[in-house]
Amino acid sequence: MKEYEINTKIRIYDNQELAAPDHALVEAAKEAALNSYAPYSKFHVGAAVRMADGRIITGNNQENAAFPSGLCAERTAMFYACSQAPSCDIAAIAVAAQAHGHYTESPVPPCGACRQAMLEAEERSGHSIRILLYSESGTFEIPSVKSLLPLQFKDETMKE
Ligand code: THU
Repeated sequence: MKEYEINTKIRIYDNQELAAPDHALVEAAKEAALNSYAPYSKFHVGAAVRMADGRIITGNNQENAAFPSGLCAERTAMFYACSQAPSCDIAAIAVAAQAHGHYTESPVPPCGACRQAMLEAEERSGHSIRILLYSESGTFEIPSVKSLLPLQFKDETMKE
């Protein structure tokens, strides 16, 4: 028997101590959450992507009466970002969500499908993508998508 332990280091910042560029990215995600289309779940998620060139592109969840036809905020933002900048060189992604008219007390971790889509973006970027998860009680900083998705199914997997 062998054991393989996977560790992830998450930094938790007080919201006031975020560095200015991170604060700006988080604020963009918070603002994007306010424009989401979520009449079914009433859970309004915003995501802000910082491209390597500094550009910030935002997105939010877009729901549909046929539930699976909707899309999460993270993928809306990332897919739009990569459609505008086909190099898809993403430096960081921030996520914030509102329920019942206020931002969540705990950070909202990206769903599995968004992690998988983020992993592809990380592979394409060729470097780690930092993930910032905002909440009223603090912001989680996760150093890479790989650390959120430790056992990865990716292109290389199919070549082995
Ligand atoms: N949602 C996101 O936008 N991002 C996530 O990572 C988790 C869930 C959205 C999808 C749906 O519109 C609503 O939140 C409730 O699941």
